[in-house]
Amino acid sequence: MDSKVENGGVHDDQGFGWGSSIPVPSVQEIVRNDSQSVPERYIQNQENGPLDSEISLVSSEIPIINFSMLANGDENERKRLDSACKEWGFFQITNHGVTDKVLHKMKAAVTVFFDLLLIEKKKYAMATNCLQGYGQGYVVSDQQKLDWNDLIFLLTLPTKFRNMKHWPTTIAGFKEAIEEYSTEMQIVTNKIFANLSLLMGMERESLKEYHGEMKQAMRLNYYPTCSRPDLVMGVSPHLDASSITLLLQDNETTGLQIKHKGGWVPVKPIPNAIVVNIGDAMEAWSNGMYKSIEHRAVTNEKVARISVATFVLPNDEVEIGPLEAVVNDYHPRLYKTVKYVDYVRYTLARKMDGKAHTHYLKTDNM
Ligand code: OGA
Ligand code: NI
Repeated sequence: MDSKVENGGVHDDQGFGWGSSIPVPSVQEIVRNDSQSVPERYIQNQENGPLDSEISLVSSEIPIINFSMLANGDENERKRLDSACKEWGFFQITNHGVTDKVLHKMKAAVTVFFDLLLIEKKKYAMATNCLQGYGQGYVVSDQQKLDWNDLIFLLTLPTKFRNMKHWPTTIAGFKEAIEEYSTEMQIVTNKIFANLSLLMGMERESLKEYHGEMKQAMRLNYYPTCSRPDLVMGVSPHLDASSITLLLQDNETTGLQIKHKGGWVPVKPIPNAIVVNIGDAMEAWSNGMYKSIEHRAVTNEKVARISVATFVLPNDEVEIGPLEAVVNDYHPRLYKTVKYVDYVRYTLARKMDGKAHTHYLKTDNM
């Protein structure tokens, strides 16, 4: 492999104790050098590739929640949220109150960053012992198949966790775009948690409190075009270890697919809507009432795609496991209670097997 495109390098960072990633080439750079090239390490095994035949025929659209109605206490919309989380684990929110300008600035910041020359982007490279910065997904083995994706991963909240060394602050407006968007996502998150708390039979503030000192992280994704989108994965099938994830995606280009009733359902972007999904921590807290659903991203030959995944995370020391409010004689405890950081470390260390990891949390009652 051309070493000129390697990212990474060891900084003297402490990391934040979640794990580490082996540096691999920039996919964007591979495509820039030769738009037809698809190196061996990116070619998925037959059973993991994005086969057209797997695209769900039952495919309807994931539920759409009118967020302003939800935030105003509309009972009907809250019930729709409940069934979206139970039956799909995914939904899109419209009328969320985040202005087009904030969303546009966020997407523009991502585009401008990835348009920089590699030598510029490498200034913000992930160190091998720290997950923040520019690089690729968590690579834990030299044998692991790689995704057709470059990213920059940043801890955004609380602000004390920001490592500005990895923020491309030389780009005018980048920091401001992230800060505005991050604040808006925190507001949306709190409203979702208030509604889920009520649905779980708790006080509005309960879920927020169960997070301890809540964290927010962002993964800014860049999916270059690929001459053989049938052979590679933009992001391999995975679950998010978050409590919830909020995804901002391109207005036109479909890439995200979710597992539903045995097939893959493409999530067609609704301009300026935000896709929300339930993560593993919420599945455990809700005792499986709400499901963390497998999802993946595919690529295409024509246009590069960007997305911004905002992960809401409980504090490392917090316990995740069924909350008292949802466990009773009819709903026995189906998940163990574990420290959140132990779960995250477990999932990151096993990234290469590509499997869902929530089995680690489940009791024998499942
Ligand atoms: C993620 C993710 C999907 C996408 O970053 O966890 O699932 O469409 N991204 O970019
Ligand atoms: Ni994801």
